Amino acid sequence: MSTVIIGSDHAGFALKEYLKDHLAAKGYEVEDMGTDSTASCDYPEYAYKVCERALVTGSLGVLICGTGVGMSMSANRVAGIRAALCTNEYLARMTRKHNNANILCLGERVLGQGAAAAIADVFLETAFEGGRHQRRIDLMDSVCGR
Ligand code: RB5
Repeated sequence: MSTVIIGSDHAGFALKEYLKDHLAAKGYEVEDMGTDSTASCDYPEYAYKVCERALVTGSLGVLICGTGVGMSMSANRVAGIRAALCTNEYLARMTRKHNNANILCLGERVLGQGAAAAIADVFLETAFEGGRHQRRIDLMDSVCGR
């Protein structure tokens, strides 16, 4: 089964712990990059740890903070990362199919646990469609990265 890299700040810690159990029960190998408690910490540190590990292993990652916004902003600064903040299953499906997103961002203060788990399931189970979508992803670097 696939490996999933997961991380959060303090505001995403409880949802991270819930998703770890949920994903492990579905057969995923889950690598937890922290944080390890609800003690206040800084989300960019964990965004970087998860992104670096996801790139090295070629795995998908999940990042959780209070809103999901700080994690998505931080993760999208890392070269090679396409992080998507998703609040529903449609976004999770389409960002895998069209954007080949490799990091899912979630907000613990935005989503219930059941909704977050359903979004993560769809994200992890959906494949990239390639084709014209790859051309557009290549343009992210050549046009937006210039
Ligand atoms: C922490 O209070 C909160 O700012 C953080 O988890 C996140 O929501 C930032 O975008």
